[in-house]
Amino acid sequence: MQRIAGIMAVGGLIGLVSMGSSLFRPEPPPERIQRAGMIVQREDCLTCHRINNEGDDFAPDLSRIGSKHPAEWFKPFLLNPQRDDPDSPMPPLDHLTDEEMADLVAFLSNLK
Ligand code: HEC
Repeated sequence: MQRIAGIMAVGGLIGLVSMGSSLFRPEPPPERIQRAGMIVQREDCLTCHRINNEGDDFAPDLSRIGSKHPAEWFKPFLLNPQRDDPDSPMPPLDHLTDEEMADLVAFLSNLK
């Protein structure tokens, strides 16, 4: 009986630890990353930007962009890149669906 209680305690501990790590480092599920990848391709982000050694270096490298801005920064910027710099050549992403935008933001803010 004591032994069973011990096993249950260990199981509970593992459960807590794995729950804790996903709370502290939330990562988007793979299908969201995949959908974001398709948006990046469709919108030609890599003709200007580089992500993990892929793409052009005309615009800032996005490989660690999630460390530079908080998650909530991305959507308003992506909807209107000319907000801060009217001369920005970056095309606004105002034609994305809400779900596409959420997937793209989840992807970008996890590039760290
Ligand atoms: C025509 C070139 C071009 C394209 C295409 C483009 N961008 Fe940009 N982007 C820029 C430039 C230039 C900047 C630098 C800041 C500015 O001018 O607005 C920038 C800035 C950014 C930033 C902020 C960078 C920083 O260091 O703060 C993000 C995030 C970003 N772009 C994401 C994207 C994504 C995602 C796509 C595709 C959906 C995309 N861009 C497509 C030119 C482009």
